[in-house]
Amino acid sequence: MQETRLSPSELVIPLFMCHGVGVSSEVPSMPDVFRYSVDRIVTRVGNVSELGVKAVLLFGLPKDKDEGGSEAYDPDGIVQQTIRRLKKEFSDIVVMTDVCLCGYTSHGHCGVVRGNYVDNDATLELLSRIAVSHAEAGADIVAPSAMMDGQVRTIRRSLDRNGFKDTAIMAYSAKFASSFYGPFRDAVESTPSFGDRRGYQMDPSNWREAIREISLDVREGADIVMVKPALPYLDIIYRARRRFNVPIAAYNVSGEYVALKSACKNGWLNEEKVILEVLTSIKRAGADIIITYFAERAAALLEEGIDQ
Ligand code: PBG
Repeated sequence: MQETRLSPSELVIPLFMCHGVGVSSEVPSMPDVFRYSVDRIVTRVGNVSELGVKAVLLFGLPKDKDEGGSEAYDPDGIVQQTIRRLKKEFSDIVVMTDVCLCGYTSHGHCGVVRGNYVDNDATLELLSRIAVSHAEAGADIVAPSAMMDGQVRTIRRSLDRNGFKDTAIMAYSAKFASSFYGPFRDAVESTPSFGDRRGYQMDPSNWREAIREISLDVREGADIVMVKPALPYLDIIYRARRRFNVPIAAYNVSGEYVALKSACKNGWLNEEKVILEVLTSIKRAGADIIITYFAERAAALLEEGIDQ
């Protein structure tokens, strides 16, 4: 009678990368989630891959943050190094990369800051440079997450002009100005030093705007569109599924992860049960791809035959 079945091949694991050697340090605000140096990532991805999770989404912590986020498009940046390493070691892992500036800028905003606002059009050029540098290093899919207008079109053009016609774009299309990103911002130290992201991320109360943002991205050339966060926005995933004939990704974000994780750690919820129930609900709503910090655990539970 079971209508919806999860498979590890639908899951994507986000990974936080940092400089150094031999580093695997737990993110204080995210139990069981680690920051890795490049030498430590191969074993980790190998383990995840054995369980059937074949896609990773990379985030980087730069050596230094500056006004323009220059490490984001440095060919020797932490993410670029990681892509090259993973592509060398694995032939069956899909490498996705987050294309944004917030983890790399000293002010923590997702774009170029002028006075006290973010300059949309000036940011597009930098986002293109980041995407092309990831493609050059071997990324299969770039995922622009800055919520700048026109970012998908600009990145598609730059990729094509630079000979990366086969590099796909997963657009963070309907990305809400959510309070569920807090733990992630601790992980990459990207909390804005002034203001907030409501100038470019969406108002949580808007579903029509979400549809508009997704249709713009599809027209601009997105191969996959994303709804983020997932659980408080299942209705958006559902509406998008009914409306668009493109693959839909949902990002089960850091705040959703820690809310469940901490309840489970306290023994208030049964982790084995809730993880699969929650991920199944995201799939049932219409997501084809689920990005989640629970990916490895979920895949292990599925392998053990534990069902929600
Ligand atoms: C970059 C980005 C963010 C997340 C993914 N890409 C942070 C933000 O927009 O502040 C959040 C992911 C998570 O919370 O797990 N812009």
